[in-house]
Amino acid sequence: MRILPFEPRYLLALQRLVNVHLSAAVPGWTLSADYLAQHLEYDDTEGITEPWVTERSTLVAVDRGQLLAVGRLLRYGDGAEVSDSYRGAGTISWLVARPDRADSAAALLNAAAEQFATWKVTRVYGWDTGLPVYALWGVPDCWPHVAAPLRTAGYQPDSSLRREALYGGYLGGIPEPGAAPISGLTLRRTAGVVDGPRFAALLDGQELGCCEWNVDLSRGGLLPGMGGWACLQNLMVEQDWRNRGIGSWIVQHGVAWARLAGCDRVIISVANENEQAGAARFYRRFGWEVFVQETHGWLPAAS
Ligand SMILES: CC(C)(COP(=O)(O)OP(=O)(O)OC[C@H]1O[C@@H](n2cnc3c(N)ncnc32)[C@H](O)[C@@H]1OP(=O)(O)O)[C@@H](O)C(=O)NCCC(=O)NCCS
Repeated sequence: MRILPFEPRYLLALQRLVNVHLSAAVPGWTLSADYLAQHLEYDDTEGITEPWVTERSTLVAVDRGQLLAVGRLLRYGDGAEVSDSYRGAGTISWLVARPDRADSAAALLNAAAEQFATWKVTRVYGWDTGLPVYALWGVPDCWPHVAAPLRTAGYQPDSSLRREALYGGYLGGIPEPGAAPISGLTLRRTAGVVDGPRFAALLDGQELGCCEWNVDLSRGGLLPGMGGWACLQNLMVEQDWRNRGIGSWIVQHGVAWARLAGCDRVIISVANENEQAGAARFYRRFGWEVFVQETHGWLPAAS
């Protein structure tokens, strides 16, 4: 087995390997080869930290012509524009490997350590180890063959970072929003700050709850393998107004809108603390279930 720099001739094998991992986490999700080729040069899903990247290296593990593992490595700059926690750091942006060849992931992690030494990184930053798609930023529990070599190489999930569960399911069968659950409650739809419409519940001008929806995960057709999926984000009801049906009502409005937009499935990233506080029961009432649990921030023991 040899560790080599990525070359375009490996692109289709890389796409296959990435999609094996992606579609194990969320049913049917795939990324196109063109998109991945662009992403290797610049990750436009990461608007804050990607502009700080000064070095990129994609390494492949190859055995007798077969691609066994791929890792994308980054080095952040040393300038004042880079935040303190990223300045001079290196990171494994993501890593995937053939499940039956854990040795390839281990070899790639060794090569990553050498690359970080060559780049003279001040430390290895372990935030990003998922894939360049919405909500898959950590290592999902359906990739034990990635987590195990990371642990063997001395990486541990950062316990100060939250774990997240990915919930998902169908939008069909969810009732249309009925009358407002509280007299005088009104709905306002505006452009959200994330990727689509924002729905807010207002009472006498006060906002009691809101949620945002991305109703085009295909990004205008760039990612056909994610067509038909919506994502629900930033759902919150003011503490004193919970358990009165406001959350369900605004989610039903978002669901109706997403269905009109042509979506029939939804994905939601739920922090473990919210899940335990009651969000799990809330989402299960819509028929949505956990696809995977994700672990973030894999750091080498010495960091
Ligand atoms: C989840 C949340 C939006 C629900 O809003 P809501 O207006 O209380 O929801 P509804 O009244 O329509 O439904 C109540 C359900 O919410 C769930 N819930 C209750 N208290 C909760 C809490 N503190 N946190 C999360 N969910 C809670 C319960 O499952 C309850 O179902 P039940 O009637 O079977 O007991 C709201 O509790 C909240 O803002 N929680 C904190 C933020 C959060 O967890 N957001 C989701 C992150 S992805």
